[in-house]
Amino acid sequence: MKAVAVTPSQKEVGIIEHPSPALHQDDEVRVRTIDVGICGTDREICTFVYGDPPSGSEHLVLGHEAMGEIVEVGANVSNLKVGDFVVPSVRRPCQDKNCLACQSNLQDFCSTGNYVERGIKECHGFMTESFVEQEQYLTHVPDNLKDVAVLTEPLTIAEKGLAQAWAAQQRLPWVRHYDGEKPTGKGLNAVILGAGPIGILGAMTMKAAGFETYVYNRSPAPNPKSDIIESIGAKYISSQDTPLEDLPKVMGSVDLIYEAVGISALAFDALSILGVNGVYIFTGIPAPGARIPIDANQLMRDVVLGNQAIIGTVNADDASFKAAISDLAYFKQHWPEAIEAVITKRFPVDDCRELLLERATGIKNVISFA
Ligand code: BGC
Repeated sequence: MKAVAVTPSQKEVGIIEHPSPALHQDDEVRVRTIDVGICGTDREICTFVYGDPPSGSEHLVLGHEAMGEIVEVGANVSNLKVGDFVVPSVRRPCQDKNCLACQSNLQDFCSTGNYVERGIKECHGFMTESFVEQEQYLTHVPDNLKDVAVLTEPLTIAEKGLAQAWAAQQRLPWVRHYDGEKPTGKGLNAVILGAGPIGILGAMTMKAAGFETYVYNRSPAPNPKSDIIESIGAKYISSQDTPLEDLPKVMGSVDLIYEAVGISALAFDALSILGVNGVYIFTGIPAPGARIPIDANQLMRDVVLGNQAIIGTVNADDASFKAAISDLAYFKQHWPEAIEAVITKRFPVDDCRELLLERATGIKNVISFA
């Protein structure tokens, strides 16, 4: 079958012939791939600075943002059946019995670094006509969400980030106002840095959680991204109109910052506007590069005197995948056009080289195998 792969030793990217996978364990299912999203990590792997093939393989099959339909189930699969739509998670646990994170099914917190990631680190991904996966790493997608479910994996970054922020803010009794079981961002301000797919999905998550939500991005409005942001009731602010240091004047206290730009200079500049008792969530993974100057004395004073919490977050556990599916349903119900507009275009697999190697365009491009 066709697969999109990188061969780092040959510096090659493109379609290869890859063996069709078969079930080897009773808890596995075989999935017919429908959609696979392309993200910055895939493009970076194609520059050969990141990503590793599985041991014994020259190539790595790409793809970690997938959605597909189950076509075969093993004898011990209990909660999924043929015909169900599913999304897979990315990380798989390390084998170290002393890694409490991996032993607790929280491989996103793996402490040894020996986890593997499908399509990224030592394990083939989903940019193939079909793949096999254990039931425990799949999340069921209701039929009415199948057109947007390829966004689940990038959305889990925001879901886990927000869950971590709430965990940190349990220290503040006045933030602990519960709306049923869920903490709410009502009365709090969140700013999202960047309006790429991670930023837009982050803005939707914060808005749905009740925050007054602002998105800070370079391009002047109006543009397709600002249109999406404004249509969900969040505010889009261009850095060309408002310097970063003026943001608190526009929005009031900055209670939460969700960084989705991956540019360390901007990300650290923004730390200086975080409010007292605020939480900063880093999501970007910048490529190694030159050192940047920062005003470390001022930042450290602010962090300490303002009781600030700085959290890094990488996706994601099962709970975040379930939260993402539930939020996708909310987005689809409240902002159907906005969530659909996050997917710029679906392309045939034959276009993979252009999508992976040429300049990124649009918001979220998807390879469609259907
Ligand atoms: C993926 C994560 C992964 C990270 C680092 C991101 O693009 O969404 O699942 O852990 O890259 O490899």
